[in-house]
Amino acid sequence: MPYRDLQRIVEGLSRHIDAGPVATRVPAREIRRHLGQSFDLASPMALDEVFAKVTRMLDRWQVQVTHPRYFGLFNPSVTTASVIADTLVAAYNPQLAAWSHAPAANEIERFVLRAIADRLGLDGESTASHFTSGGAEANLTALIAALAHTFPSWRQEGLRSLPAAPCIYLSQEGHHSFHKAARVSGLGGSAVATIPVDDGGRMSPAALADAVAADRRAGHAPLMVVATAGTTGCGAIDPLNDIAAFCHHQKLWLHIDAAWAGAAALSPRLRHHLAGIDRADSLTFDAHKWLAVPMGAGMFFCRHSEALRTAFGQRTPYMPAPGGAHTEDPYSRSLQWSRRFIGLKLFVTLAEAGFPGVIERIESQARLGDELRRLLTAKGWQVANETPLPVVCFTRRGVDVRKLVRQLHHRQIAWMSPIRIGGGELLMRACITGHRTTVQDLEAVVAAMDGLV
Ligand SMILES: Cc1ncc(COP(=O)(O)O)c(C=O)c1O
Repeated sequence: MPYRDLQRIVEGLSRHIDAGPVATRVPAREIRRHLGQSFDLASPMALDEVFAKVTRMLDRWQVQVTHPRYFGLFNPSVTTASVIADTLVAAYNPQLAAWSHAPAANEIERFVLRAIADRLGLDGESTASHFTSGGAEANLTALIAALAHTFPSWRQEGLRSLPAAPCIYLSQEGHHSFHKAARVSGLGGSAVATIPVDDGGRMSPAALADAVAADRRAGHAPLMVVATAGTTGCGAIDPLNDIAAFCHHQKLWLHIDAAWAGAAALSPRLRHHLAGIDRADSLTFDAHKWLAVPMGAGMFFCRHSEALRTAFGQRTPYMPAPGGAHTEDPYSRSLQWSRRFIGLKLFVTLAEAGFPGVIERIESQARLGDELRRLLTAKGWQVANETPLPVVCFTRRGVDVRKLVRQLHHRQIAWMSPIRIGGGELLMRACITGHRTTVQDLEAVVAAMDGLV
């Protein structure tokens, strides 16, 4: 297998991206005109020409999220091994829906999911787990599993059979996929109660207790609390142990959304910040956010395998027969039916570097976050968020945040975004989840920002 040829191509492409622009700004009509003029699809075109045109479009007209100066939204630079793995997956195109169709692929996924579960402090043996397209699918799965587990009539009779309206609790800084999940599940948007946060963006346990008590008094059925381990905006980690104790006492399903910061729980140095993560009933953790693999590679872990069987269990005459003892068919345990071999890119990344190598990458990006905080403070910026994770929200008196963001993009200095925490003032936000980012990149960006304000 000439994987070295693929390696050369992928590494060449990475160097090419690193040397090019990071930001883009283009009206849709320019791309549409270009497509209309370049491809009529009426006659064949040589593949060389097709790919030359396509790569030129991808070079010019997208934010380059693998670029060392992309400080954006948890879209990491990716390992060469993971890109080769995704190419193999596309070429072999295994169908993982039924175990017996893809035994090797299904067992590789099981192997890697168990290894991760064990390192998160869950029991890999008894914890049900599967790959998802991403965090939003995993979060929806959590809600469905909580409904199936809590209300025995739900599977057959649906929401109309429930004795009271189920409620979901999420902090103000929690991910908005839960609002979608509430609508998709049929509960409706008003099922989600948003709980206030403290100055650090962390859910207030007292406010959570008040909200649950008020819902009980109103005759509702509190169902699930979502604790976020690493909020999207500012990297806040909700008080997981306090929330877990409350959920245990109140018999509520605890879902921990660790979509991006779950990676920190793999590190012996950072793990204590996520203490309590192992007390979740269900957990979301995306490999495509901070484990250096391409999208989409979400992971869903759940203590209650029976809830997944209840929610998703299905047999049909046309699917292949079950794979035999100690195997499960993923289509009958999860939302997806046909399934891509999502886990290979994570498996090869872990196999190549080992957990120590992967952890070193995570810790080194956490150190870069600290370094960025230090560099900014030294230049008179104020860091506005408090987190051990590499996401830095900052400002300086008199700075026009939107204008500065535009200038950074326009001059190809870096890609960052504006953010508001808890409805406060507009801040700059920089997040480091790319392993090609160096201290020199941070120094250059901080110096360039100084020249702009
Ligand atoms: C905390 C959190 N949860 C869920 C998601 C959704 O994940 P995905 O985009 O993979 O669906 C995100 C995305 O950034 C996130 O930050």
